[in-house]
Amino acid sequence: MTKRFLITGSYGQIGQALIPAMIERIGKENVVATGRKKRIPLFKELDVIYHRLDIRDHYGLRSLLVEYDIDILIHNASVLSATGEKNPQLAHSINFEGFYNALEASRELNLEQLFAPSSIAAFGPTTPLVNTPNTTIMEPTSIYGISKVYTELMGNYYNKKYDLDFRSLRYPGVLGVEEPGGGTTDYAIDIFYEAIKTKKYTCFLGPDVRLPMMLMSDCLKSTFDLIEAPNEKLKHRSFNVTAMSFTPEELVSEIKKYIPEFEIAYEPDFRDGIARTWPQSLDDSVAREEWDWKPEYAFEDMVKFMLEGISNRLGIPYK
Ligand code: SER
Repeated sequence: MTKRFLITGSYGQIGQALIPAMIERIGKENVVATGRKKRIPLFKELDVIYHRLDIRDHYGLRSLLVEYDIDILIHNASVLSATGEKNPQLAHSINFEGFYNALEASRELNLEQLFAPSSIAAFGPTTPLVNTPNTTIMEPTSIYGISKVYTELMGNYYNKKYDLDFRSLRYPGVLGVEEPGGGTTDYAIDIFYEAIKTKKYTCFLGPDVRLPMMLMSDCLKSTFDLIEAPNEKLKHRSFNVTAMSFTPEELVSEIKKYIPEFEIAYEPDFRDGIARTWPQSLDDSVAREEWDWKPEYAFEDMVKFMLEGISNRLGIPYK
């Protein structure tokens, strides 16, 4: 039997790819997209069910879950790391209150599953930052990171106390043609847009900042694979997932293989400081063991995919 899903934060970077992928998998009658803003053009084109919903509105959330007889809630609404540092109060109310509403609604309405992403931002400067294990020190220093630790710990608590089937992935930087908003890993998307449009980019991270990343298609694959994994196979509730790690400098030299005249300048800002507290690479062996996680795209293929995808989107050839 097909499950019915409600997605919060559905017009965000991941939602813009997730919603079409879900419609293709389970049909648009089983997908309810929600978000704080009005319907984006993509959702009009897809003719997907869309409701305006602020995740802090607990009554609104419950009403939609009941009205559409939702089985699984995918709670993607979140203020990301860079925006969070500019407005910690907003990040607190959306990320903490919002997630608490999602948890409570899932418990009260006895939903089959609550999926809510975590992030590499849940780690911090005291974490072993190379090949970071699934279980390790988590003392993040950004408001976004703190909210993700809250998400993971409260999800575990509701799982133990109320038997709520909570699941979470610590996404690394997610790379796709969809435009990101307010993250620290966004440089690795912006750089492709600028390389194709102007052949120049000024990077807000230093050349040597290594971060774990994955292509959007692997992000969606990990999400579907975890949501569909048999509950009895899961010993953990939150999982590291990754596909590659690179620095801005390494990315530039790969892009230059296709666009030799591409020029980079570095003007590190506060986001460089955030990124340096995050893992450089992740150990995702727990996800590989418990639900057979395996990414499809490595570094070189990702660069080719991004250049082709963004050049198609812009209608500007890259070579
Ligand atoms: N991509 C996110 C950010 O940069 C990390 O989860 O904020």
